[in-house]
Amino acid sequence: MAEVVLDKVSKVYPGGVMAVKEMSLHIQHEEFIVLVGPSGCGKTTMLRMVAGLEEITEGTISIDNRTVNDVPPKDRDVAMVFQNYALYPHMTVYKNMAFALKLRKFPKKEIEQRVRHAASILGIEQLLDRKPKALSGGQRQRVAVGRAIVRQPKAFLFDEPLSNLDAKLRVETRAELKALQRRLQTTTIYVTHDQEEAMTLGQRIVVMKDALVQQVGTPLEVYGKPINRFVGGFVGTPPMNMLSGRLLRENEAIYFDEGSTKLRLPACLKDALGGQVGQEVIMGVRPEAMSMYTEGRFVGQDNVLPLTVQVVEPLGEKMDLYAGTEKHPHIVARIDAETGLEPGQAVNMNLDMDKVHIFESNEAGRNLSLN
Ligand SMILES: Nc1ncnc2c1ncn2[C@@H]1O[C@H](COP(=O)(O)OP(=O)(O)OP(=O)(O)O)[C@@H](O)[C@H]1O
Ligand SMILES: [Mg+2]
Repeated sequence: MAEVVLDKVSKVYPGGVMAVKEMSLHIQHEEFIVLVGPSGCGKTTMLRMVAGLEEITEGTISIDNRTVNDVPPKDRDVAMVFQNYALYPHMTVYKNMAFALKLRKFPKKEIEQRVRHAASILGIEQLLDRKPKALSGGQRQRVAVGRAIVRQPKAFLFDEPLSNLDAKLRVETRAELKALQRRLQTTTIYVTHDQEEAMTLGQRIVVMKDALVQQVGTPLEVYGKPINRFVGGFVGTPPMNMLSGRLLRENEAIYFDEGSTKLRLPACLKDALGGQVGQEVIMGVRPEAMSMYTEGRFVGQDNVLPLTVQVVEPLGEKMDLYAGTEKHPHIVARIDAETGLEPGQAVNMNLDMDKVHIFESNEAGRNLSLN
């Protein structure tokens, strides 16, 4: 049981690097929250401040209503799993897992019980007598998690725990971690720079950039309603296409002028965008919000963007079509697999205009189309 609350937490390292700036976050009891953002944005620093491994420059962190700013790591009752696992090479798996409990002077019997229980949850009972160097990457990762589980902490802190695993194992282990967290019902803060991992694991995700929290929300909120251009471009694969252009008003409707094509924006955005007519903006279109279908609800909506095919990447049922206009040569559409598309060919792409985003063209790139 634990709530972790950050109130305007900042970290300035000696030398003046502002690693985390005024971060406020209320992590619910039993929540699985994922911090995601590019390298250097402050994720590890945040986690280390919660763990007590890094001093807090400003603000407060509390765990279950107790301010822990000055509480040493060992008394915070949180367990951190590091990217490199930090296992003790000379100790067996059993001893690695028992170590923290031994330090805390748990009775031998209790230690044994907890280690065996954790080992059975993780399926590593048969490895207890081995040393870390005799384990595969995935097995080491389990041991590192086991070390955290045995402590029955108030919160788990994971710092990119899957980054040393190969792609397939990463996906499998990700699913296991999620199931494990449900089962143990322990508040979890998980750090990754991989947006896909964040989307699949987090009940909520926190997107960071340059020491600042950009957006906090469920994966679907962050995907569907990105607060700015950075979040829009960071979440989703392939990334959102960003087309620069200008807003126009014609016959009571608002259009995005791409340069060679005018695309009509949904009527529901009239209020939000009315004041921006004439302005340069960026239209964000997800690859999956495009389609080559020419029937049904897309007909007659001024939503067709003529493109010239460059490269086709088949993915099985779907394919990624790389194509462009004169002004925007690099557009990617994830569409149903079609045969017979050749480089150089002209295609008409239907855009799902209900799903496009209009961002400010300035640095902040605020999403103007949220309402
Ligand atoms: N001990 C330190 N002293 C000075 N600056 C540091 C220290 N540790 C980290 N930084 C700086 O603080 C910023 C945030 O670092 P942090 O390790 O938190 O990033 P991160 O988001 O975890 O990145 P990554 O995804 O690469 O692990 C970076 O600019 C980094 O160079
Ligand atoms: Mg890091």
